[in-house]
Amino acid sequence: MMILAFPDYLSQAQRLAARLDMPLIEVVLHHFPDGESLIRLPPSLPEHVIVCRSLNQPNDKLIELLLCATTARELGAKRLTLVAPYLSYMRQDIANQPGEAVSQRIVGKLLADLFDDVLTVDPHLHRISALTQAIPIKNAISLTAADQIGIFLKAKFNHAVLLGPDSESEQWVGTIAGNIGFDYAIADKNRLGDKQVEMALPDRDFGSQPVVIIDDMASTGRTLAKAAGLLQDAGCQDIYAVVTHALFCGDAYTYILEAGVKTIWSTDSIDHPSSCIKLDGLLADAIKAIT
Ligand code: R5P
Repeated sequence: MMILAFPDYLSQAQRLAARLDMPLIEVVLHHFPDGESLIRLPPSLPEHVIVCRSLNQPNDKLIELLLCATTARELGAKRLTLVAPYLSYMRQDIANQPGEAVSQRIVGKLLADLFDDVLTVDPHLHRISALTQAIPIKNAISLTAADQIGIFLKAKFNHAVLLGPDSESEQWVGTIAGNIGFDYAIADKNRLGDKQVEMALPDRDFGSQPVVIIDDMASTGRTLAKAAGLLQDAGCQDIYAVVTHALFCGDAYTYILEAGVKTIWSTDSIDHPSSCIKLDGLLADAIKAIT
């Protein structure tokens, strides 16, 4: 077996390779001035190859995965496993208006055609309950970072209220709170546009202990910022945030901090200065279980 790591996921893949005691080769990637990509892999590959890359900023990356997986098969790989801790295109699971592409189904099929196994962490599944419904292969495996986040928070706080910004977040927030014995609350969010959200906090005291807002991802940061603003209005001065996936598009990171969040922590599904919650143990155990 061998790990092939894309440059943007190299440090995380190195930790995973060390855990699995497996050789790692970095994929050679070149971007031509016209936007095309060149991929180079080792000239011969073992039977089982694990390709590691998170799929934030996904459009180029998906083409590069297509080139990589197809080439890996030509070079001898019989089994291809994709480790993509952040999996994009999972939110568009219906056509909201006639004519819209149902991207979850289309990208899911592409990955199913290319890979024998797909492992990801806290994918944003809305109207479906199993990742296999989006990626139609037996080993489409959805892991959760809830344990890692819970252990991290338990070491930081004696007690805190965990706040989920919308009903979808309850699956993660409720699990983490239950694991570590913290209280939790769920806000009511309505997204009006890419950078516009309205939100209402549940009716409870937010002024007497730290609050940690927990979500699966921060993209524009408007969700976390809105929650932080409302918490301040409710008398909370001790506000933190944890996300699994640190997408932080554009000004998101500073926007959240300026809205009153003291510190943001994230997992290393995407490399970012906030990424202090490591996922290599979780991923290594999942790989061992399927090999
Ligand atoms: C959506 O329901 C997700 O769970 C996140 O709350 C959302 O994607 C965060 O996006 P943004 O940072 O752009 O508000």
